[in-house]
Amino acid sequence: MNKNENIVWHPNKVSPEDRCRVLGQKGLVVWFTGLSGSGKSTIAVELEKMLNEAGRAVYLLDGDNIRCGINSDLGFSDEDRNENIRRISEIAALFRDAGIITLVSFISPFRKMREFAREKAGEGNFIEVYVSTDFETCRKRDPKGLYQKDIKNFTGKDSSYEEPLNPEIVLDTIKGDPAQCAKKVLREIEKYLADKM
Ligand code: ADX
Repeated sequence: MNKNENIVWHPNKVSPEDRCRVLGQKGLVVWFTGLSGSGKSTIAVELEKMLNEAGRAVYLLDGDNIRCGINSDLGFSDEDRNENIRRISEIAALFRDAGIITLVSFISPFRKMREFAREKAGEGNFIEVYVSTDFETCRKRDPKGLYQKDIKNFTGKDSSYEEPLNPEIVLDTIKGDPAQCAKKVLREIEKYLADKM
């Protein structure tokens, strides 16, 4: 993958622990996965607001938004989705390294790439949140009007979604509203931050 064979890693003098001391928190990747319209981004937006109000350094990387910028060259073939997730995994790992609580909201349909994201963040620095809203419910909600269109390679139709096998958190958006779901994740994040400081 690396086309630059003459590149040598240059070490920093500031470690993640040094950054942590300045920020008063440890960086973390909170990875939301689920179908389009499952509620990932709505919950992540609530959570970002809650964390900001609690005085935490937090940033949300959202699939639709990132696809307007750095990933605007990618479509929805399996190959492009994998590249989308590869890039955002690298970016999320950099944010985490910088000490930020990094919320990531992408369909991220393939297990292999979610595992890649976990490895990049470093085991123990990654919380996988499965927003488990089923296809029928997403189709009925259709907040962006995409399910009623005839879109090629649409997740859950002619493009597959691989459910997480061992996510740290599962959110049921039928039982809980976005704020309740966000609070459930917030509690896990606070536990993580208390453990690791
Ligand atoms: S991912 O599969 O590569 O992780 P990503 O989260 O970046 O997807 O983008 C998904 C968003 O793109 C959806 O929420 C939806 O708004 C839009 N979208 C457009 N085309 C498709 C498609 N074919 N399948 C799924 N989502 C699509």
